[in-house]
Amino acid sequence: MYAGRGWVEGKIALVTGAGSGIGRAAARLLAAEGATVYLTDIDADAAEATADAIGPAARAIRQDVRDEAGWEIVTGRILSEQGQLDILANCAGIQLTRGLIETSLEDFRHVFQVNVESVFLGTRAAVKAMLPRKSGSIINIASNFANIADGLNTAYCASKAAVAHFTRAAALDCAQRNTRIRVNSIHPGCINTPMLEREIVDVAAKRGDPDTSAVRAEWQTLAPLGIGSPEDIGWAVVYLASDRSPYTTGSELVIDGGHIIR
Ligand SMILES: NC(=O)c1ccc[n+]([C@@H]2O[C@H](COP(=O)([O-])OP(=O)(O)OC[C@H]3O[C@@H](n4cnc5c(N)ncnc54)[C@H](O)[C@@H]3O)[C@@H](O)[C@H]2O)c1
Repeated sequence: MYAGRGWVEGKIALVTGAGSGIGRAAARLLAAEGATVYLTDIDADAAEATADAIGPAARAIRQDVRDEAGWEIVTGRILSEQGQLDILANCAGIQLTRGLIETSLEDFRHVFQVNVESVFLGTRAAVKAMLPRKSGSIINIASNFANIADGLNTAYCASKAAVAHFTRAAALDCAQRNTRIRVNSIHPGCINTPMLEREIVDVAAKRGDPDTSAVRAEWQTLAPLGIGSPEDIGWAVVYLASDRSPYTTGSELVIDGGHIIR
């Protein structure tokens, strides 16, 4: 079993959406690389299960990332227990596989609340917590759909483009405050998680085919390297969280196996 190289040794991390998929992999790898990790998720049991699997370096907290007061509670607890926050990975998110006409205003707002407002609230809360030490790393999980338009994901595409551009602006703000607080986004392509599985089922249903194998095979060919694993993104989180990326801020790291529609 991989023992870790201590890439983030001694750092204190907060990972949202850590009960599943990319957030779970990011939390696990950050802990393996030496961080103490606070895992949050709206699904408390899932966060708890991941924390249990990681071991003593992990603590689980229930958090709805849409809730402004909740961010103060979570970052306040971390500061009181650890005295510092070094890393925030905003991994919580939802996908709505729905075209324009089928998207209600309520749907659109819901996607923006979970995917965009949460990133604003989390980045702001983390920057406040990081300001005394003037250093830290915030990693926002966007999507390659921030750059690639997809007609079946109208609200989702818009939300991820908002995350990407917000990230650049927040990075500039932190740099101009004369800090080393870095803010970057990661843009995954198709990654093998429950979210992708739900999308495959949704698209098959929209095509009137309960058998998902055709959609699954199609998704497999969207990128020359096929479908990625949550760890493919988790390692990028570790890199951006570590001191090995000191000059990287306001950037977007596309990790999509060479997705062909650019
Ligand atoms: N899987 C992919 O192919 C893919 C591709 C590009 C981007 N992404 C992005 O990566 C991130 C993680 O996605 P995933 O594939 O791991 O999805 P996932 O569904 O496996 O995990 C998402 C987690 O977020 C949690 N969550 C949802 N709403 C929440 C809320 N309001 N408050 C707190 N937690 C909440 C869920 O409970 C779940 O544990 C998302 O932002 C997603 O948009 C995923």
